[in-house]
Amino acid sequence: MVLNVVIMAAGKGTRMRSARPKVLHTLAGRHLLQHVLAAAAGLGALRTIVVTGHGAAEVERAAAAPGLAFVRQEPQLGTGHAMQQAAPLLDDAGTTLILNGDVPLIEAETLQALVAACAGQRLALLTISLADPKGYGRIVRRGDAIEAIVEEKDATDAQRGIAEIYTGVMAAPTAALKRWLTALGNDNAAREYYLTDAVGLAVGDGTPVVGVAAAGETEVLGVNSAAQLADLERRFQRRAAERLMNEGVRLADAARFDLRGELRCGSDVEIDVGCIFEGVVDLGDEVRIGAHCILRNARIAAGATIRPYTHIDGEALGATVGANATVGPFARLRGGTALGAAVHIGNFVEVKNSTLGEGAKANHLAYLGDADVGARVNFGAGSITANYDGANKHRTTIGADAHIGSNVVLVAPVTVGEGATIGGGSTIASDAPAGQLTVARARQASLAGWKRPTKKR
Ligand code: UD1
Ligand code: CA
Repeated sequence: MVLNVVIMAAGKGTRMRSARPKVLHTLAGRHLLQHVLAAAAGLGALRTIVVTGHGAAEVERAAAAPGLAFVRQEPQLGTGHAMQQAAPLLDDAGTTLILNGDVPLIEAETLQALVAACAGQRLALLTISLADPKGYGRIVRRGDAIEAIVEEKDATDAQRGIAEIYTGVMAAPTAALKRWLTALGNDNAAREYYLTDAVGLAVGDGTPVVGVAAAGETEVLGVNSAAQLADLERRFQRRAAERLMNEGVRLADAARFDLRGELRCGSDVEIDVGCIFEGVVDLGDEVRIGAHCILRNARIAAGATIRPYTHIDGEALGATVGANATVGPFARLRGGTALGAAVHIGNFVEVKNSTLGEGAKANHLAYLGDADVGARVNFGAGSITANYDGANKHRTTIGADAHIGSNVVLVAPVTVGEGATIGGGSTIASDAPAGQLTVARARQASLAGWKRPTKKR
């Protein structure tokens, strides 16, 4: 059976009071349209069309994906008018599934059920009864049969009392839909062409209209204001937290947890309050994440501890923390960082594009950039690799068991041999041999009989 999917995303979203097109506002790190597209992705649609209008260029740039078509709606004269723009692209055979770009948490199974209810011959509406149906189109029934959808603005007082609403999702036989679209008028309170008037037209020409009840309200709530967006964000996060807790992840507080990507956890993982996970994050068995950490594109091996206020952003290259390592508090790991087992990274230490061998330590105030650090190296407080000459980046290599004193500058490209010791305060611009002490700083001198200057009278 041929399936078309149309996502309407041309509206201005006036009530968001934002310059950004509504469907590009983000929920759990992805914009609203991405959520809707993801839900529709598994349906096996012949084509997926997004109707754009307000901020069209921006929306098309943000949503562009292989196989996705865009049609523009200028000006925006209502949801029925939006569908009129998409109609020429729809195959007459089969079903068209219509989604609102601003209903982001809709689930794939629900869409599947709706398409099945339509079966290319019925108009299937996704509905739900809400305690507070204000603002939504109401489902008007005579007996059991659906007669019409009436928009809030056009509803009588009695109709406003109806709890059952139209969620903005329908599946229609495509040929009939095209017919109804040409028959829509705009004689209503908003002077818009309402897609929802298709229901009355279907009833008129004898097409069966069926309601499919949504399983829960979260998946059908629309985003029309900043407050609704924040409410949906919390609902999404609550669901994500529950999924993880069901797998045994111990969240200190499910209400203070934010997932903006994908988080995979081993057994006995503990996550303290206020943490944010972005991109793809993998936590091994018995990993502990302290309060207020942000992790993005990172893999933390079993038994590692990330202490509070640590920021790990693997960027495109990823970042890995070895088994039983300790990172933080207040540490920063960037793209291309690979820490071996039992590494210690302490407060105010930044590591970028560097590997650290097993048991290496940089416990305080340090920068390791573009460095290969051997096992058990101790990198002293205040020491840095000077990896950037103003034009190019260079690497620093430090052999196993080397001891880098405090306040050392390693000017790359440079190599420190295995077991070498670098005296504190040294600026090392040439290779330091293995096993020896290398010191590069002015020799200490004391002047006997020297007098401190005194103030002139
Ligand atoms: C719409 C439904 C209402 C339903 C509600 C569910 C109509 C007339 N009303 O109302 O019955 O309860 O959704 O959330 O359909 N859009 C366009 N072009 C336009 C106007 C809107 O593409 O000219 C898009 C918007 O970007 C949005 C969607 O259509 O993604 C819905 O538009 P919106 O104005 O939010 O409709 P509602 O008033 O919420
Ligand atoms: Ca809406």
